[in-house]
Amino acid sequence: MTPDYSLLDRQLAALLDTRDWLTNSAQTCAFIMQQVPDLNWAGFYLQRQPELLSLGPFQGKPACHPIPFAKGVCGAAARTRSTQRVDDVHSVADHIACDADSSAELVVPVVVADRLWGVLDLDSPRQGRFTDEDQAGIEALMATFIERTDLA
Ligand code: SME
Repeated sequence: MTPDYSLLDRQLAALLDTRDWLTNSAQTCAFIMQQVPDLNWAGFYLQRQPELLSLGPFQGKPACHPIPFAKGVCGAAARTRSTQRVDDVHSVADHIACDADSSAELVVPVVVADRLWGVLDLDSPRQGRFTDEDQAGIEALMATFIERTDLA
């Protein structure tokens, strides 16, 4: 069932009561992991060096690190600065498999003042898990995260 993203957005806004990036990113991925059904991983990769993503706060199994911009679904989101939604990661040639159980993936770039801060990566064991509605809902949650956090 699709969660009520407008309710989740208000709850996330209330949860993010500091402007600290570390606290807010940890809270945000924990909140998404709890509230969005059928996820096996939710977390941030941060751009801390040119063309490279470093593992940030996350919920789930230990994950791949680092991820070059040139590789995988996260790399594509970072390169193109556009949301990547994949129904079945096993059909993506350069997908980086951190966990063989993951099937569907949604990666939303976090861009602040024209600079890529990082990406939010969600994985699901269910093929085709993410719909248009999920994508719009998660993008709205990211807009709230950006608005309520000092990311510069
Ligand atoms: N599957 C991702 C790598 C990150 S993990 O899923 C946590 C990718 O291809 O970019």
